[in-house]
Amino acid sequence: MAFFQREEKVIVMRSVKSSVKGWKTAKTCLAVLIVIALQALGPGTGRPQEPAQPRIEEEIAKQEKIYRSRGADVPSGYVTGRALSDYAELLPSGFCDALGRLGSSDRWLDIGAGEGQAILDYFAPEDDTAPAKSCALSGGKARAVAMSIEDRRTDKWQQQAASLGGDRIRYLSGKRLRNYSGEELGKFQIITDVYGGFSYTEDLSQFLENVLSLLEIDGVFYTIVQSVHLEDGKDKPSTWYLTELVDAAGRDVKVCSWLKKTACVKVGCESKSDWDTPTELINIRKVCSDVSIPRMKLLKYEAGNPPGRRFQLER
Ligand SMILES: C[S@@+](CC[C@H](N)C(=O)[O-])C[C@H]1O[C@@H](n2cnc3c(N)ncnc32)[C@H](O)[C@@H]1O
Repeated sequence: MAFFQREEKVIVMRSVKSSVKGWKTAKTCLAVLIVIALQALGPGTGRPQEPAQPRIEEEIAKQEKIYRSRGADVPSGYVTGRALSDYAELLPSGFCDALGRLGSSDRWLDIGAGEGQAILDYFAPEDDTAPAKSCALSGGKARAVAMSIEDRRTDKWQQQAASLGGDRIRYLSGKRLRNYSGEELGKFQIITDVYGGFSYTEDLSQFLENVLSLLEIDGVFYTIVQSVHLEDGKDKPSTWYLTELVDAAGRDVKVCSWLKKTACVKVGCESKSDWDTPTELINIRKVCSDVSIPRMKLLKYEAGNPPGRRFQLER
């Protein structure tokens, strides 16, 4: 419920303080206290169930401004240049080795790649970068595709793309994952997402469906999501949750419990309760082709880096 405790609680308390002086009867006080109690209890107990659509649209428009921000206007929390070594630290254990095992006919998609620095590091000449930094093993390098809503390619990207030639690295921008067809993108052995679409999308079940449709059988999606209810239950009660899932009755659902209801995948979760915010490192291996993901609808979206989101399972 922490999601709803931000400014709303403060506003309610302020209005109580300023109004109490003028209240003449205990009856009025009682009525106000009932309203406060209903608001504090959250959805399903007096709060309208329907999403405030115009407000969600306003927030999505604010989020667009973050994507489009440049130079000094980029909010400090919107990091777009993480190195491959950061990916190796942030993604589930096993990611770096799996990337190193890919061969020259394999493909890696990085969704929400920002500047594409992780891909540049992977292709850095061996003498420039220690193997641990490039996740490289002795085999050939996979072909890599960076995807970002906004084009954040740097001069370094342009130079490396030119020197590698062909289609060893590609940068796709101008639209979201959901706007690409399967034919346009092809299939991948590894898909990564470090504070990309999985943390930013307003349709999490659709996003995941699109990701899994792009994976080869036995391919793996590696991602991370912060400020969530952890699989191991060790998140602190004071947590300010950024991504919240609830069931049809409004009860909290852990992101990993939801993922584990998906058919044709094997989900691994590593809960990090001792990080600044409770964070789940997630790997999802596709084991057969009839993937089916329990649908969710968006209840709340607040622009940010990443945004605050609340989803409800449809059944
Ligand atoms: C905070 S940046 C992270 C960049 C990079 N992964 C890093 O760690 O440096 C978020 C990235 O996710 C992208 N993004 C967000 N939602 C997306 C979506 N639905 N499809 C594709 N890219 C998305 C943004 O355009 C941006 O490139």
